[in-house]
Amino acid sequence: MKRLVRITIILSLICIGIVGITILINNRLEQAARADEVQQSNNSNAGVEEDQQDNLNENNDNEIDDLDTQENNENIDINEEDIHNNSIERIIEIVGDQVYNFDPQKALVIGNQDSLYALVNKLNELDSNYEPNDLVVPNVEFSFSGNDPKKQMRAVAADALEELLQGASQGGFRLVAVSGYRSYSRQKTIYAGNVDRMGEEAANKVSAKPGQSEHQSGLAMDVSSEGIGYSLEETLGDLPEGKWLVSHAHEYGFIIRYPKDKTSITGYNYEPWHVRYVGKELAAYLYNNKLTLDEFYEQIS
Ligand code: DAL
Ligand code: ZN
Repeated sequence: MKRLVRITIILSLICIGIVGITILINNRLEQAARADEVQQSNNSNAGVEEDQQDNLNENNDNEIDDLDTQENNENIDINEEDIHNNSIERIIEIVGDQVYNFDPQKALVIGNQDSLYALVNKLNELDSNYEPNDLVVPNVEFSFSGNDPKKQMRAVAADALEELLQGASQGGFRLVAVSGYRSYSRQKTIYAGNVDRMGEEAANKVSAKPGQSEHQSGLAMDVSSEGIGYSLEETLGDLPEGKWLVSHAHEYGFIIRYPKDKTSITGYNYEPWHVRYVGKELAAYLYNNKLTLDEFYEQIS
């Protein structure tokens, strides 16, 4: 009997021991599991911080990029300034040493009438016999069909006009050619008709006297748009295509020859439709410095 009691006690102790060890192991396992969770949690927080760090790094990179851009812009400014400072000499080189007349008492015939940079105005005129020898019809859309001398321009200006109107088209704007080359005698007829219709004073603001029209040089083209029935009127300047022309003509070597704010200098009303080819460098110079061709030549004379 005593032996049975002893065995029971020993078995009980073993059971207690096993239970105790099991509890101990479970506790350890739970602790380990909790430790893992904490570790994972820490890791995921660290992940967020890394993301934030990435963002910070990106921000820093952006700031560095901004600084780079600022520096580049400064460089661009400096370069542009250099170009600007140099360009007057370069432009003078390009236009040559042709001397123009600024004496309002009399108009003089231009020395080098074939110059692509010729100043044709009320004081500097083309000879009655002058006709460019390289007139061609540009491959552009015209407001009318059929052959007409007024479709022509000098070859280099014709090429540039093709690019100009293509550029407009790529920008989503449709401009068409209306009137280019005019002979001296054609201009004489047009001017006389205007004088008859509106009187000399008014005619002189919209129409050049024969010899004084850029159209005789073959370097000018009047352009218009469908929205105004291909007419030549000031509203072109308010239309998107007219605004495009003002902002981009110089990129193709053209200037708006008779701007709105320069009527007292040009002597003509605003003509947003009349573009004159002068080559890309001179056009950019005039555009950047807000100068008419008249002002430019007066400045360098
Ligand atoms: N309308 C311009 C000034 C011309 O007649 O040539
Ligand atoms: Zn014109």
